[in-house]
Amino acid sequence: MAHLIAPSILAADFANLQRDIEMINQSEADWFHIDVMDGVFVPNISFGMPVISAIKKHAKKTMDVHLMIVEPDKFIKEFKKVGADILTVHYEVCQNLHRTIQEIHNAEMKAGVSLNPHTPISVLEDVIQDLDLVLIMSVNPGFGGQNFIENTYKKIIQLRDLIDKSGSGAMIEVDGGVNDQNTPKLVAAGADVLVAGSFVFKSDDPVKTIKNLKL
Ligand code: DX5
Ligand code: ZN
Repeated sequence: MAHLIAPSILAADFANLQRDIEMINQSEADWFHIDVMDGVFVPNISFGMPVISAIKKHAKKTMDVHLMIVEPDKFIKEFKKVGADILTVHYEVCQNLHRTIQEIHNAEMKAGVSLNPHTPISVLEDVIQDLDLVLIMSVNPGFGGQNFIENTYKKIIQLRDLIDKSGSGAMIEVDGGVNDQNTPKLVAAGADVLVAGSFVFKSDDPVKTIKNLKL
């Protein structure tokens, strides 16, 4: 399967959100990547339900919601209500990860788990069969525009091996510092979905940049 591109709304112009959403609708992008930050799990606050509802009104593609928040279980149903199709929680904040995954599925969303750069792939061995997506952080979560961490390639290869051995259907998504230089290597290592924020929105021609990342 050809890899997918998920532009990160965090890098959009929030004063021109509708314009930027239409740009993604019209581009070859596959998903909207939506970063929710609580200022507790990560040292930054982004946006919450009202903004996601506003995005949903205009977005014509899959809503891929990445929660960088503690106690995500409290809000699962609400994220469904505001339009999430895929809900990804961080491994590092879930004390009952298996239950959280079940609850995301019960709310009729695809379930993802994200791993910080310091968290090994092996922690997913006993839940990989239940996952639709694993999001490997290739920067420390909290901010756009950071440098890609090279150790990510090794983790993608390990995760691809775990998925193949377990017969899981999970997709591998990579988030942080993605650009046209590392994209071919990420895809070769086994990534299915690439999140790109700054590289898309800070470029002169975002539609063309997205098209190039798909090649
Ligand atoms: C970081 C977020 C990313 C971020 C990526 O915590 O999860 O999705 O928007 O931005 P870039 O592509 O600029 O690294
Ligand atoms: Zn993200």
